[in-house]
Amino acid sequence: MIQTAPGICDALRSDTRALHDIAEKHPFQTALVAGRVTRHAYGRFLAQMFHVHRTLERCVAQSEHPAVRSVIKSAYFQSIRLTQDLDHIGLDDRSATRGTKRLMAEIESTVAEQPAAALGFHYVLEGSNNGSRYIARSIRLAFNLTEAGTRFLDPYGDDQRSKWLEYRAALDAVNMTPVESAIVLDAAARMFRGVTALCDDLNPETQHGD
Ligand code: HEM
Repeated sequence: MIQTAPGICDALRSDTRALHDIAEKHPFQTALVAGRVTRHAYGRFLAQMFHVHRTLERCVAQSEHPAVRSVIKSAYFQSIRLTQDLDHIGLDDRSATRGTKRLMAEIESTVAEQPAAALGFHYVLEGSNNGSRYIARSIRLAFNLTEAGTRFLDPYGDDQRSKWLEYRAALDAVNMTPVESAIVLDAAARMFRGVTALCDDLNPETQHGD
């Protein structure tokens, strides 16, 4: 089997850097990190991320791809934390926006055709915990929360860095063909674009609706 050079994580980081910068600068993300969102808007964001995570988690749970099964362990699953946070915030409207529904469908169809894509999708969600820690601090201040209500944003606390290095090492250890590497890189780009697009549906100032 043809193997690529060891480790895909450096390529993931460099290839998606521009997309990360676009996502990070999205007005909804800048409002989140500044703690300038209503409680309702924060809850609507959590609801969208719940749908995205649960869709991917279902794909991973059904996957027969050895690397998907070995890298994406259920301990990384975030949908339970998202449900706990949503219960704490007390949001009734947990419906998916149009952008979220599009992303859910894209995850499902892509993974069905290219099982390795789950690795690229998940890399983006897991990697986003690096920045979400900062958002968690602002949200706690804004709504007078402690851990409850921000478990999704800060799942590992002070272990964030070591958990991320552990995740990267597991992903880097996967022997991928050039075709699989291309699939993983493409899926990561799609996830960045999808999350950015779903943020377009959200209004930081809303008290009701999206
Ligand atoms: C206000 C919003 C955001 C901030 C402040 C932020 C900040 C950061 C920071 C500080 C890192 C760590 C960089 C390092 O240590 O090398 C990081 C990494 C990362 N973030 Fe974000 N981020 C934000 C939004 C997002 C979003 C919306 C996504 C996904 C859609 C995302 C995905 C990632 C990924 C995948 C990484 C890992 C990059 C790598 O090292 O391979 N981030 N972010």
